[in-house]
Amino acid sequence: MARKAAGVTLRVLGRAKVNLALCVRERRQDGYHELETVMQTVDLADELSMQAAPSTSVSIAWAAGLAGALPASPDLVERALSLVRDAAGRGEAAVRVVKRIPMGAGLGGGSADAAAALVGMQALLGEGLRAGIAAEIALRLGSDVPFAMRGGTAVARGRGEALTPVGTGRDLWWVLGIPPFRLGTAEVYRRYDEIAGHRAPAGEPETGSLVAALESEDPGEVARWLSNDLEVAAFDLAPSLSGLKEAVARAGALGAVMSGSGSAIAGLCRDRSHAAEVAQAIAPSFDRVETVGSTRRGAEVVERSR
Ligand code: C5P
Repeated sequence: MARKAAGVTLRVLGRAKVNLALCVRERRQDGYHELETVMQTVDLADELSMQAAPSTSVSIAWAAGLAGALPASPDLVERALSLVRDAAGRGEAAVRVVKRIPMGAGLGGGSADAAAALVGMQALLGEGLRAGIAAEIALRLGSDVPFAMRGGTAVARGRGEALTPVGTGRDLWWVLGIPPFRLGTAEVYRRYDEIAGHRAPAGEPETGSLVAALESEDPGEVARWLSNDLEVAAFDLAPSLSGLKEAVARAGALGAVMSGSGSAIAGLCRDRSHAAEVAQAIAPSFDRVETVGSTRRGAEVVERSR
């Protein structure tokens, strides 16, 4: 199978996600938290070009017009390739990553890259990398990587890997406000524990109402149920963030919520033109603003060329 794929260059996309709701449950023995979260992929993607090679190399750069720090080495793509080689006994590849998803923003950029690398390696190795093994590697790479492989809209439980797809009647339009500062996921969870005092949260998570709203096809109803338990920790670490969330709501978004462990604020809009209006209004408050639509797609090979 490897010989068959030799000489082929794959173009693989890994898509960003937003968390519409994120309920943190108890802290587990292994240090992770039990979650109940609703995630959705959006049409903002990092792009990997991948080909089989005599030895592995990974280069990462920002897309034209974007700038910022790059992931420290070994990044998730390098780690994905090394875990694939350990499992499959082969799989050297040359990979170029072009990044568009901001880092440290809670939009799942690193997970998207890892998911795209795994999907690309599945395409290069064929049966040399079974789906079950790829799924195990995905979770080792990060809690959001299994979802990033699959995409669409889903409730994620456990560490984030137990996925139940949600049927959405229509696409949603988002404006993403990316502040000039980044937040580290582990640090935000640590602060959450300090604030919540390691108590098990009272009551059941509320994602049922959100899922029903998603099925109802009414973005105004979806907006009512946007929530993120990690906001309290992120707003404590970065006090300007709560004002930035308010700015998105004031600009006319149906609802606003921090995505994942932040720092991005996602504003839900009625449609594409409403998202463009809100984007314009919030642009002065943020470092970068994107308008994105939801997608049913996750990480996927979009082109093969020789
Ligand atoms: O799985 P991932 O590497 O993305 O997680 C980064 C950090 O976020 C973990 O080291 C942990 O501190 C925290 N985390 C958590 N519970 C989860 C997911 C992440 O505590 N379900």
